[in-house]
Amino acid sequence: MCTERRRHNLADNLIVGLDIGTTSTRAVVGDFNEDDQLEIIGYGVAPSTGLRRGVVLNIEATLSSVTSAIESAELMSGREIHSCVLGISGANVDSLNSKGVVAVAGKGREITSEDIARVHEAAQAVSIPMDREILHVIPQAYIVDSQRGIKDPMHMMGVRLESEVHIITSSVTTTQNLLKCVNRAGYRPERQILGSLAAARTVLSDEEKDLGCLLMDIGGGTTDLMVFREGAPWYTAAIPAGGMQVTNDISIMLSVLMDNAERLKREAASCWTASIDPDELIAVPGIGGREPTEIPRRKLCSIVQPRMEEILLMSKEKLEKAGFLKEIKAGIILTGAAAQMAGLVELVESIFEVSAHVGIPGAIGGLGDEYRNPGFATAIGLVLLEADEIGPVEPTRNSGGARKEKKHGSSLGNLVSWLKDKFV
Ligand SMILES: Nc1ncnc2c1ncn2[C@@H]1O[C@H](COP(=O)(O)OP(=O)(O)OP(=O)(O)O)[C@@H](O)[C@H]1O
Ligand SMILES: [Mg+2]
Repeated sequence: MCTERRRHNLADNLIVGLDIGTTSTRAVVGDFNEDDQLEIIGYGVAPSTGLRRGVVLNIEATLSSVTSAIESAELMSGREIHSCVLGISGANVDSLNSKGVVAVAGKGREITSEDIARVHEAAQAVSIPMDREILHVIPQAYIVDSQRGIKDPMHMMGVRLESEVHIITSSVTTTQNLLKCVNRAGYRPERQILGSLAAARTVLSDEEKDLGCLLMDIGGGTTDLMVFREGAPWYTAAIPAGGMQVTNDISIMLSVLMDNAERLKREAASCWTASIDPDELIAVPGIGGREPTEIPRRKLCSIVQPRMEEILLMSKEKLEKAGFLKEIKAGIILTGAAAQMAGLVELVESIFEVSAHVGIPGAIGGLGDEYRNPGFATAIGLVLLEADEIGPVEPTRNSGGARKEKKHGSSLGNLVSWLKDKFV
């Protein structure tokens, strides 16, 4: 079934993950080798100028960014791309948790897949504004009679089946505009998956998701948050700020062009000022033909740190208000290209008082290590989630891949499979 479905849905057996961001569009191409192992065979990156905080403001600019990223990926992989799996993220994404209850109707009160489908149907009977649509309904846990925390109720005996689900919604127009850009660029968007779910597939371990952790995707225009607990997502939100604000601040405060501000940020800035030698000097390019000047490196850091602190404090406040701050026992995993900022881990740890690390996508096979960068987590995750669904192998964070056993409702991949049956 797997191979057939793949052939049916995705031309040439390729899986292409497309992550259209506020600053960059990334396309990653996965393919199954002769041993049915997933390999990354190409990728493409193009600057993105048509979006603001995940919302399309300029169709032409966005579609040309999509075209350019996919064409680069085609060139690298030597394959023609017809379709893709599209990531949805940004400030227009929202979430809620819901519950459903049904009486078990199976023969002899044994829970069947029909009972599970009915309880999911019941759990998603929530009122959603007209301008929003459900992107995912993700099972968190089941309660059979009074037994809580059940991951897979299939074949269990019971009278009453309850399900707890995490519902992720997105703005109808935002998604339609993204789809329009992809279609007009000449590619078929096969399905849409929340960007954070994809990044989580790439950089979170099962232990982290079980114990409770926060995935923080710091991009150019938005910072996407997702809290996992007991293996499933419980909270999804976004802060409308990211690395671009930091570059803006540098440009204004040091009177440098945006390109130079970006370079200074990447090469000399740190958001942990305390670790910088107070006597260290850096060269700042002059504007309008003026000579470069020297400033203390600490001055640059004292511009960057407060902005990053602000983003982190906004995130912390949101989590605290929603009651999920105490859930992040296994710490914070940072992704998005801005997660590479020097000193960020230290700053995050001091603000949240839990451990933090940068989530680097694991080696999958195929290309070398160049895609193993937190900026690629979402695009790679889109490929992996799709491969979970259609392929027989499951690449892990640290290995080339291992045979997987398909079990109802036991992993995000299977959840996505359920979602697809439901919504696609
Ligand atoms: N080495 C680096 N050090 C610090 N910041 C970096 C580095 N590389 C990239 N960035 C920053 O990362 C940000 C872009 O991140 P990313 O590419 O993940 O965003 P995006 O996906 O385009 O945007 P969004 O997710 O907000 O829609 C930019 O602000 C850029 O300056
Ligand atoms: Mg992004």
